[in-house]
Amino acid sequence: MMLTIALPTGRVFSDAAEMIAGAGLPCDGLASPGRKLVIEAGEFRYILAKPSDVPLYVSYGTADLAFAGGDVLLESAMPVVELLDTGAGRCSVVVAGPRSQAERFRGHASELMGLKVATKYPRIADGHFSARGVQVDIIHLHGSIELAPKLGLSDCILDIVQTGSTLRANSLEVLEHVCDVSLRLVASRKSTALRWKEVQSVMNKISSHVKEKRP
Ligand code: PRP
Repeated sequence: MMLTIALPTGRVFSDAAEMIAGAGLPCDGLASPGRKLVIEAGEFRYILAKPSDVPLYVSYGTADLAFAGGDVLLESAMPVVELLDTGAGRCSVVVAGPRSQAERFRGHASELMGLKVATKYPRIADGHFSARGVQVDIIHLHGSIELAPKLGLSDCILDIVQTGSTLRANSLEVLEHVCDVSLRLVASRKSTALRWKEVQSVMNKISSHVKEKRP
C-alpha cells in the first residue's frame, strides 16, 4: 500500500520538496508539479494541500505523514503526532502594529482591553491574550493581514514574520514576540500505530538529511 505524504503549497513547498529529494525518497515530478495536486512516485503518493488544511488531512488519516508549519499546527489544534523539527521555514509569530500602539503595549495589561487584533490565527491570538488576562476583539482575516491596521480596521495584527520586509513595507513594527515556529514532520496517530516501520523509515531518512545540512 502506498504511503501518502501531504505537502503544504506556498512558501514552504520548496523546502519540503527539497527535503524529500535530499532524503532520497522517490520524488519524480515533485520539483515542478504544475497544477497537479497528487503526484505518485515509487511507493509514495504526495498530496499538495493548502497549508492550513494539512493538519486536517493528517488527523483524518487521509495522509500518513505531512510537513506542516508550527503556526498551522498550533492554530489547528488537531491531534497529530510530531516526529521531527526540520528547522526549515523558521519564523516568528508576533504582535505587530503602528508605532502609535507601542506605548499601550509597554503599559499595564489593562491598557490592552478591547484591543482590535487582526489575524489569520484566531486561536493563537486568543490563547496569547487570554494568558495575559486580556480580552481582545479578534478580527479573522485570511491573508494580507497588514492591511487591517493601515485601513483602521484593527489596532494591531498577530502574524508570522520571516524577513520583516512585509512589516517594514507597511510601516508596522513588532510590539510583542509570541513564539518561534518552523516546519515540522508530523504523522497521523493511525499510521504511527499501524504502519510504524514505514513511518519510522521516512522519519529517519529526513532526520539524517536535516542533520547533514545543519550538523
Ligand atoms: C506571510 C505573513 C506576512 C509575511 C511575512 O504572508 O502573513 O504577511 O508572510 O513574511 P516577511 O516577514 O518575510 O515579509 P504570506 O506571504 O504567506 O501571504 P498571505 O498574506 O496571503 O497570508
